[in-house]
Amino acid sequence: MIILGIETTCDETGVGIVRDGLFVLANVVSSSSDLHRKYGGIVPEVAAREQVRLIVPVLEEAERSAQCKLEKVDAIAVAYGPGLVGPLMVGVESAKTLALVLDKPLIAVNHLVGHIYANWINNGKNTVQFPLVALIVSGGHTDLILMKDHGKFNLIGSTRDDAAGEVFDKVARVLGLGYPGGPEIEKLARPFRVNSSQFTVKFPRPMISENNFDFSFAGLKTSVVNIVKNLELSEETTGKIAAEFQNAVVDVLVKKTLRAAYKYSAKSIVVGGGVAANSLLRDRMFDAGAKTDIKVLFPSKLLSVDNGVMIAAAAFFEKNFVAPLRLQADSSLHF
Ligand code: KG4
Ligand code: ZN
Repeated sequence: MIILGIETTCDETGVGIVRDGLFVLANVVSSSSDLHRKYGGIVPEVAAREQVRLIVPVLEEAERSAQCKLEKVDAIAVAYGPGLVGPLMVGVESAKTLALVLDKPLIAVNHLVGHIYANWINNGKNTVQFPLVALIVSGGHTDLILMKDHGKFNLIGSTRDDAAGEVFDKVARVLGLGYPGGPEIEKLARPFRVNSSQFTVKFPRPMISENNFDFSFAGLKTSVVNIVKNLELSEETTGKIAAEFQNAVVDVLVKKTLRAAYKYSAKSIVVGGGVAANSLLRDRMFDAGAKTDIKVLFPSKLLSVDNGVMIAAAAFFEKNFVAPLRLQADSSLHF
């Protein structure tokens, strides 16, 4: 079964074409992040206008790249939330139009579920095993989900304030780095990753020892702001702060995910969302998993950030068919 997936929840316009939820025929993503950079964050109206401009060229490019005419796909899938309402509407209305004009079934996908299913791509049908614990770390979410089977999502923990990606973006701004902040912090921190004994700053690891699966990152962000206020920021100091901040976030994410996996006897841990592209998080989660019987999986870095492939993959495993004229974007959709 070939599914076309459309993803426009934020500043990426993504179209993926996927066979049987596992094999990528096309993955085309165009981002408007350059336009937001000068504002230090996403401007929703600008993002929505760019979605309108980009959706048709991105669809055409996906068609070319897969060498598969849109008429030949078996279903159209779209992320209908959560996200920014303007950008979301562009994807949803485009998907509805395609489904009606091409007379194809329409499948509605929760964007967060898409991030989970990115882990099935190229990882083979049998690699991900239930029960699993999924860690979603994106610009808007930090969630731990227990999944006992396809389509069965049990939210066991969330951030109580800022999301992990959001705090990377905010700390990057405080350090005078560009947007999106995650990749910038990762790059700057790289030379200071190995020898953490050289740090003179130590940041808190909020809620790391609490006996629950929730997170909180706002206090960590405030600690960075307070330290930065009293410092002359050389490249080296900025790098050390970035590295210790990254360590603090990763420590908390790894520890709490492992604790959840033990508690629920998970066979796999899967990670998704933009922060899953972070190399330190990947390395540390793999190291932690290697000491247990739990299999740790990450999507490729390309499929960790927003894309249409994950929407098509999720649609294959969770066929939430909807009547095209009934589907509405839902910016605050949750599990
Ligand atoms: O999933 P995503 O592409 O969009 C949302 O659904 O929000 O995640 C975007 C977030 C941004 O906050 C960005 O800074 C963060 O993911 N991110 C990273 C890295 N790449 C992207 N955070 C840390 N390290 C990275 N390498
Ligand atoms: Zn996302």
